[in-house]
Amino acid sequence: MSMRSGKPMTTQSKSLFDQFLAPLFGQLMDKEELLRVRNSIDWDAETGAIANPHVTYPDYYQTSRFHGIDNGYLNIDAAITYDPITQYVLPPGETWVRESLVNAIQGSPRRILDVGCGTGTTTLMLKRRFPQTEVVGLDLSPHMLVMAQRKARDARLDVTFCHGDAMATGLDEDSFDVVCATLLFHETPPSVAKAILRESFRVMRPGGQILLLDGNQQTLRTVDWLNTIFEEPFIREYGQGNVDAWLGHAGFETVRTEAIFWLNQLSTAQKPLPVSAAVTTSHGQSSTSDDLPMTAAPA
Ligand SMILES: C[S@@+](CC[C@H](N)C(=O)[O-])C[C@H]1O[C@@H](n2cnc3c(N)ncnc32)[C@H](O)[C@@H]1O
Repeated sequence: MSMRSGKPMTTQSKSLFDQFLAPLFGQLMDKEELLRVRNSIDWDAETGAIANPHVTYPDYYQTSRFHGIDNGYLNIDAAITYDPITQYVLPPGETWVRESLVNAIQGSPRRILDVGCGTGTTTLMLKRRFPQTEVVGLDLSPHMLVMAQRKARDARLDVTFCHGDAMATGLDEDSFDVVCATLLFHETPPSVAKAILRESFRVMRPGGQILLLDGNQQTLRTVDWLNTIFEEPFIREYGQGNVDAWLGHAGFETVRTEAIFWLNQLSTAQKPLPVSAAVTTSHGQSSTSDDLPMTAAPA
């Protein structure tokens, strides 16, 4: 979607998205307000402040035209148009769809990591729901993170946003109770999604929970036009894949996926607790030290 004034971005192809959706979204968006936001930000200073100079961008990320936008998410226009467009593409309603993930979190986590957090919409919902929790959002796009930080500041929510690759976060292992991602995996090659799951497993404490809200893979396999309409370079590969299997391969257990309306799905799983000592009870049943009574010593 090109902003027609200010610093324009260029699009080259005449895809379904360019022909139909871009003009439609163009009508729905308040362009003057977007330009006001765009011009109110010192992008060089703000992206420079959040960008981690040690981050290297994976090839798929630098070369793909996500949503038909040159430079994908490394582009100011992608960052400022993201929220105004996203509100229209999550039926039956953006907040309802995102809440399915927030509502599925078990217990009261101490630390939550939201990978591929983008402009931070889910990240802020997590902080609102768990005000005592340390919530961290991580994304590869400094531009998206600038928008996320502004939203957090406006909402007076204390959330940490960091620039990084979800495949190699550099965060401590076993340090988060919950890792989640919304709308991330349909934007990555499956090999990247799998690498992100391995890294999520590493940074999550044993017993921790992972939650993935994304496109409904079954629907994508059966409704072909969904794979072309949004100009998502990897959505077809994503739809052919199986998040449940990917979670299992990464080491997660109790894997479950449910449909969220017909367009999205929510997958949840847990990192197994360590089996510290397998013992045999007096009845000959196998057990572990985790489920032994506190006072009884095995014979
Ligand atoms: C469709 S947006 C989703 C943003 C946000 N989670 C939401 O629900 O609105 C996908 C985001 O994933 C980010 N992303 C893609 N690959 C990534 C990676 N390897 N590491 C971190 N972020 C990544 C993009 O920069 C983009 O902000």
